[in-house]
Amino acid sequence: MSKSLNFLLPTVGGIALLGGIAIASMHRNSGEAQIALLRDRVAEVEAHAKNAGEKVKMAASRAEELQAEIAEVQAAAQERMAQTAVLTAPAPETDEPYGIGRPALTEEIAAWDVDVLPDGRGLPEGSGNAFDGEEVFAAKCASCHGDFAEGVDNWPVLAGGFDTLGDEDPVKTVGSYWPHLSTAWDYIHRSMPFGEAGTLTADETYAIVAYILYSNDLIDDEYELSHENLGEFEMYNKDGFVVDDRPELEYTKWRTEPCMENCKEEVEVTMRSVFLVETPPEGGSKSEMNQATLEALPTFTAAGPSFIPEAAPKPAVAEEAEPEATPAAVQPTEGVDLVAAGEKVFRKCKSCHQVGSGAKNRSGPVLTGIVGAPAGSVDGFKYSKAMASAGDAGLVWETSELDAFLADPKGYLKKTKMSFKGLDDEEDRAAVIAYLNSFE
Ligand code: HEC
Ligand code: HEC
Repeated sequence: MSKSLNFLLPTVGGIALLGGIAIASMHRNSGEAQIALLRDRVAEVEAHAKNAGEKVKMAASRAEELQAEIAEVQAAAQERMAQTAVLTAPAPETDEPYGIGRPALTEEIAAWDVDVLPDGRGLPEGSGNAFDGEEVFAAKCASCHGDFAEGVDNWPVLAGGFDTLGDEDPVKTVGSYWPHLSTAWDYIHRSMPFGEAGTLTADETYAIVAYILYSNDLIDDEYELSHENLGEFEMYNKDGFVVDDRPELEYTKWRTEPCMENCKEEVEVTMRSVFLVETPPEGGSKSEMNQATLEALPTFTAAGPSFIPEAAPKPAVAEEAEPEATPAAVQPTEGVDLVAAGEKVFRKCKSCHQVGSGAKNRSGPVLTGIVGAPAGSVDGFKYSKAMASAGDAGLVWETSELDAFLADPKGYLKKTKMSFKGLDDEEDRAAVIAYLNSFE
C-alpha cells in the first residue's frame, strides 16, 4: 500500500510547487487583469490539487483491495504448496538415490565412448599397413568404392581430387579434402562397410585407412599406421579450414547497428528443402533440382524424386554378378572330379577373380585361359609393378609356376598385389589349376 502512495506523492508536490511559482509571479506583475488571471490560475491549481487528493484516496483504497487479494492468493498458494510438498518430496533414502536403474558398467561406457579426436585421443591400440589394408578393402569396400578407392558409379570417391576444391565441381575425398586423419578412422570404424557397420576390428581399420592414404599417394605401402602415429599424420588439406570466429568478431558488429535500409518488402519461398537431395546423381550446380520451382514440382515415387532417373543401384558384388561358368573341353588326362573339386576351391578366388564367358576384371584379373598364358597380360587390368615386370621378363603361367604362385603368392612374387594367403594343400592347387584349365 505504501508503495502506491509514494508513487503519487511527486505529483502532489509538483502541483504545490506550481502554485508557489504562480504566487511569486503575482508579486512581480501588479496589473489588475493579471492578478485576476492569476487568481483564476490559483483556483484552477487548487481544484487540481483537490482532485489529486481524491485520486490519492482512491488509489489508497484500491491498493488496500489489492493487498487483500494478494493475501488471499498467497494463502491459497501456501495451501497448495503444502499439498504438493508430499508429491515433490525426495524419494525415500536408499543406496541408489532414486531407487531405479543401476550404475553403467565399465564395458557399457567403453562401448559408447568411441569417438576419436584429431590428436589421436580415443584411438584403440593397433596398427596396420596398406599392404594388408588392400586385402580387407578389396573384400569389404571395393564393391562400392572401387579397387583403388576411385568410387564405383555414384558411390563416394575416396582418393584423388587434389587441388580441385576451388573448381566448380570439386572432388572432395579423404585425400583432397579431409583435414584430420582421425575422422577417416572414426568414420570408417563406426559406419562402414555400409550396411555392416561395426564389423571392422581396430587393426583392420588401421590397415584400411593406410590403404586409403596409399591410394591417395600420401604414404608408401610399408608405412605402418598405428594409434601412436595416426594423430600426428598431416593431411594434405589440413590448412584448408578456418576457425569460425564470427561469434566473437562479427556478431558484435551487427548487434550495435543492425542495417535496416533497402530491405526487401516481401519474403517469398522459392525452394523447399525436400528437393535438396544429397549427392544428386546428375550432379552439382547443373542439377535439375536447382531449377525446380513451386509451380513445377518434381513428383516423388518409391524410386525417388522424378528428377533422379533411378535410385542409384548397388553395384553387383563379384559373387552375385558371377557369369555362368561354361567349362569347355575338359582335357582327357584330367578327371572330371578334379575339375569339380577345383570349382569348389575357386570359391576362395571368386571375391576377386572371374572366369568363363562374360567374365570381367574385378579386383583381380579375368582368369579365362590363364594356364599357359604370359603373366600380367590380361587387357585392361592394372597389375602391380612386380607382376607386370615378371611378365615382361618372360614369366609364363605353366602349371608348375601357377602351383608355386598359388602356394604362397607373396613368397613367390614379393610385391604382388594379390592379397591372398595362398593354398597350402597341394591337391587344392592341382584341382583349381585343372578347373582354370577347363576354360579356354
Ligand atoms: C554397399 C556400398 C558400400 C560399401 C561396401 C562401403 N561403403 Fe563406404 N560409403 C558408402 C556410401 C553410400 C557412403 C556415403 C554415406 C553417406 O554419405 O551417408 C560411403 C561413405 C564412405 C566414406 C566417406 C566418404 C566421404 O568423402 O564422405 C568413407 C571414408 C568410406 N565410405 C569408406 C568405406 C570403407 C573403408 C569401406 C570398407 C570397410 C566401405 N566404405 C564400404 C557405401 C559403401
Ligand atoms: C583378394 C583378391 C584375390 C584373391 C582372393 C585371389 N586373387 Fe589372384 N590376383 C589378385 C590380384 C589383385 C592379382 C594381380 C596381381 C598383381 O598384379 O600383382 C591376381 C593375380 C592372379 C594371377 C595372375 C594373373 C595374371 O594375369 O598374371 C593368377 C593366376 C591368380 N591371381 C589366381 C588366383 C587364384 C587361383 C585364386 C584362388 C585360389 C586367387 N587368385 C585369389 C587378387 C586375388
